[in-house]
Amino acid sequence: MDIWHLRGGNRLEGSCFVQGSKNASLPIIAASIISPAATELLNVPQLRDVDAALRILRHLGCTAEQWGGEVYIDSQALCRSEIPHSLMVEMRSSVIFMGALIARCGGARLSLPGGCQLGKRPIDLHLAALRQMGAEIEEAGGEINCRAEGLHGEEIFLPFPSVGATENIMLAAARARGDTVIHGAAREPEIVALQDYLKAIGLEVAGAGTDTVSIGCFRPEKAVSHRIIPDRIVASTIACAAAATGGNVEMRGVDPAHFSTVLHFLKSAGCDIINSNRSVRVKAPARLKAVGELETRPYPGFPTDAQPVLMAALLRAEGRTVITENIFENRYRQVPELQRLGADIAVSGRRAEIWGVDCLRGAALTATDLRGGAAMIVAALAARGESTIFDDGHITRGYERFDMRLRSLGADIYLEC
Ligand code: UD1
Repeated sequence: MDIWHLRGGNRLEGSCFVQGSKNASLPIIAASIISPAATELLNVPQLRDVDAALRILRHLGCTAEQWGGEVYIDSQALCRSEIPHSLMVEMRSSVIFMGALIARCGGARLSLPGGCQLGKRPIDLHLAALRQMGAEIEEAGGEINCRAEGLHGEEIFLPFPSVGATENIMLAAARARGDTVIHGAAREPEIVALQDYLKAIGLEVAGAGTDTVSIGCFRPEKAVSHRIIPDRIVASTIACAAAATGGNVEMRGVDPAHFSTVLHFLKSAGCDIINSNRSVRVKAPARLKAVGELETRPYPGFPTDAQPVLMAALLRAEGRTVITENIFENRYRQVPELQRLGADIAVSGRRAEIWGVDCLRGAALTATDLRGGAAMIVAALAARGESTIFDDGHITRGYERFDMRLRSLGADIYLEC
């Protein structure tokens, strides 16, 4: 059990470096098995989910090591195409190994993934696309057995721009006969990052960042080195923590375009946002203003992963904010915990109405999921007095040395592991 101890009330001030992206690292780590080439990845965050992905690679027979922000993978000796339940349950993104194993081995056997409990989170879109490409998939007892020796390229129409389904199709298509075109693809920066890596290993792939991604033939390179993009959700979290505490924080090593919707709402809340070369400064007033209506949408819309942390920043904002969560049906699990701090939030289905209160008071909280836990940290930093967050390891799945990073900005926080 991780226990986060916080004393709120300090303004966050200073400058900090933002870690590499978890959600870009994981599919790229899975993609590293597509060809036997050696992969070096730079700027990889040191996180439990990254560890879990590297353990899966080692189970498959690969060499996979992390030294600081560098990961070295050699998948030449890969000798298995099955992943046991104990490894799969550690993170939802393990489902991405399905596409990668299909491309490398012509099949995969795995159990349904773990990860945050944000609702149903089915993988029907992944499976329908793979079946359309010729895979034979049996599902029984939570296990998936996929045989896909003769996979062929297809035109695939995704009814919803699922990030994971887009990534899985891109990976499986790498070794399919003929071209694959994904219509209605997810447009997230992590998809562009995956495309950049796949191009570097020798795959013809184009269109990432638009809703049509096409995958052609594969001429494997011997070795690649690839830098992971900055984490736009960690950047959003730090920006919201600065805003919540009336702070003045510069975030370095970020791509402001990747979280411009979050910055837009912080600006409407009264913050000054100063962008310069790969850095963003958030300068907040003593009290924020409510932002009216806000809805989560697939990229380039407002990211569902930043919804809990922006909600936390707005708990003391003057006026009323209404959030509509359109991506996950169970993404308000942080609300009862935020209410323990004195927040005035009413949830009805997908809508949450927040009335800014004058003051939040520290309390004992329990982290419900990764971003919900981060939201509790943001809110507790803005609350008077002490808070304790009991966390079954959710927050450290996505935030690298978060206590140290926030302490360097003046927060009174420490993590007891
Ligand atoms: C990824 C991110 C996650 C983020 C989410 C949405 C990673 C590791 N995780 O998750 O942090 O919150 O994108 O931006 O990158 N859906 C289906 N059927 C499917 C697939 C998805 O109905 O086959 C639904 C899901 O239940 C959910 C929505 O589509 O309601 C979005 O899911 P998706 O975009 O696939 O998210 P993930 O890839 O799981």
